[in-house]
Amino acid sequence: MNPTASPIWHKSTLPTAEIERFTVGRDRELDLYLAESDVLGSMAHITMLQSIGLLTADELQVLLAELRRILGDIRAGKFLIEEGVEDVHSEVELLLTRRLGDVGKKIHSGRSRNDQVLVDLKLWTRRQLHDIVLLVKELFDELQRQSEKYRNILLPGYTHLQVAMPSSFGLWFGAYAESLADDMLFLQAAYRLVNRNPLGSAAGYGSSFPLNRQMTTDLLGFDSMDFNVVYAQMGRGKMERNVSFALASVAGTIAKLAFDACLFNSQNFGFVKLPDECTTGSSIMPHKKNPDVFELTRAKCNKLQALPQQVTLIMNNLPSGYFRDLQIIKEVFLPAFDELKDCLRMTTYIIERIRVNEHILDDPRYDLMFSVEEVNRLASNGVPFRDAYKKVGLDIEAGNFRPVKEVHHTHEGSIGNPCNAEIAALMDRILSDFHFERVEEAERKLAEG
Ligand code: ARG
Repeated sequence: MNPTASPIWHKSTLPTAEIERFTVGRDRELDLYLAESDVLGSMAHITMLQSIGLLTADELQVLLAELRRILGDIRAGKFLIEEGVEDVHSEVELLLTRRLGDVGKKIHSGRSRNDQVLVDLKLWTRRQLHDIVLLVKELFDELQRQSEKYRNILLPGYTHLQVAMPSSFGLWFGAYAESLADDMLFLQAAYRLVNRNPLGSAAGYGSSFPLNRQMTTDLLGFDSMDFNVVYAQMGRGKMERNVSFALASVAGTIAKLAFDACLFNSQNFGFVKLPDECTTGSSIMPHKKNPDVFELTRAKCNKLQALPQQVTLIMNNLPSGYFRDLQIIKEVFLPAFDELKDCLRMTTYIIERIRVNEHILDDPRYDLMFSVEEVNRLASNGVPFRDAYKKVGLDIEAGNFRPVKEVHHTHEGSIGNPCNAEIAALMDRILSDFHFERVEEAERKLAEG
């Protein structure tokens, strides 16, 4: 096994090709997710280095201009991590050194790839969470729109999958909207944890250079920093796990919605119908129109709910300080965002198009769900509840129960008063606390100069 080409930081002995293959793993592919963030992080870092006298003003300008070119290439899809280069951090530094000579070798003062990957992951995740928030809001709006549209269309409610009490499409769609409002709180907590700057923790123990961490915090638009450098490094894995919980919360909502929709779309229920062009066929049964989109979103979202466990198990029992184990988290964490985004988009797409059966209750099999309405009617007229319950029960047994298929539910959150406006206000309050514009402005200023 031959030693590999000399990376920028290697001294006299090199790992063999086999060792390099195994330790680099999937970084050349996965670190591409982090490339833009890596460049932004470097721009902030070197701007700070110049302010503390470790680069001249001219050197800074030359480096920033080249980093801007690299950023342009990344955005244009013209960036890759070469064979023999370990990761995105080394590739960017190599490009600078190749193109600018010795000045390129100065940028790594006062940092380590450990805090570099930390800051890359934070910047990238912050952007991804922003995307997820917008997609969750789109689905939320669509669910609320459908809830209002079909507000008064009744639907059987089930307990134990047995016909139970009247529900409505207003409640059904609206329930998933409210679930997303709760998920949004998790996303916000995740966003706040992410929005703190780990840069300057270097290998996990800080630096003897007088780094100005507040400056990089401001330049990168972070709310604040992970102050203690040991804690900053401990955030690797913890950040991903906490964000995964937020993603899993959203995924849990979508998976349940998908299951309801599959069930309600079955001929045996017939409560909703997907337009033909949103279904798939069978290779043998000419009549089939399958709800594959909901089945796939259900499976993908169930899988996403395993993400917090996957992250936890990868980093479980690691003491403080950096370990290469942490690299493996990227394999499960980075692709999860595209998967969830796709599920959110497809769910919104189908919910927009789903058709509702407005005549479900014409079928006498649902008559008994009005039994409690009748008990309550008698109780409102002065019959003690237990006596009313017994009378209706006996009528049902004797085959004498004749439902009045009307409901008069008025309390908060009930069929007659689903409180969609209150739920929308809750969502708006949460959204107004994100302050994405501050972050976008900082990133734009840094990238454009
Ligand atoms: N690829 C590495 C990771 O994701 C980058 C940091 C490498 N640091 C180190 N000390 N080997 O963790």
